[in-house]
Amino acid sequence: MIILASDHAGFLLKEEIKKFFNRENIIAIDVGCYSRKQLDDYPDFAKAANQKVIEDSRNVGIYICGTGIGMSIVANRNPKIRAALCYGEQFASLARRHNDANVLCLPGRFMSKRKAIKIVKVFLTTDFEGGRHARRIKKY
Ligand code: RB5
Repeated sequence: MIILASDHAGFLLKEEIKKFFNRENIIAIDVGCYSRKQLDDYPDFAKAANQKVIEDSRNVGIYICGTGIGMSIVANRNPKIRAALCYGEQFASLARRHNDANVLCLPGRFMSKRKAIKIVKVFLTTDFEGGRHARRIKKY
């Protein structure tokens, strides 16, 4: 399952990603926020989404705030979350292949929907390589 979360600054980009998922018949759970106008606190949404992501090891999250930084800091406070703030497809690919990232963070105020969707596609279709990377992850 894919869990989506944003604050007000990430809301519009989250809506674009939801439209893409609808077109592709990809099911996702949106834990909020539900309006761009409401001033929301990103830690509340990151924490709510984390709880859903850790329910199943196959789950992944996509969290969006203005910069992606706040969401990634909060997300990574949960020891079962490996959140990666990605600015491009190569980052998303390496976050999956080397870090087994289970949460993708995006900067809603600094990224086009086109770019974000490319990154999301890579994140969702790239597998962890294991091996030496698994050894490193055990040391987190
Ligand atoms: C909200 O103004 C902004 O601080 C937030 O979206 C995020 O960028 C924090 O890291």
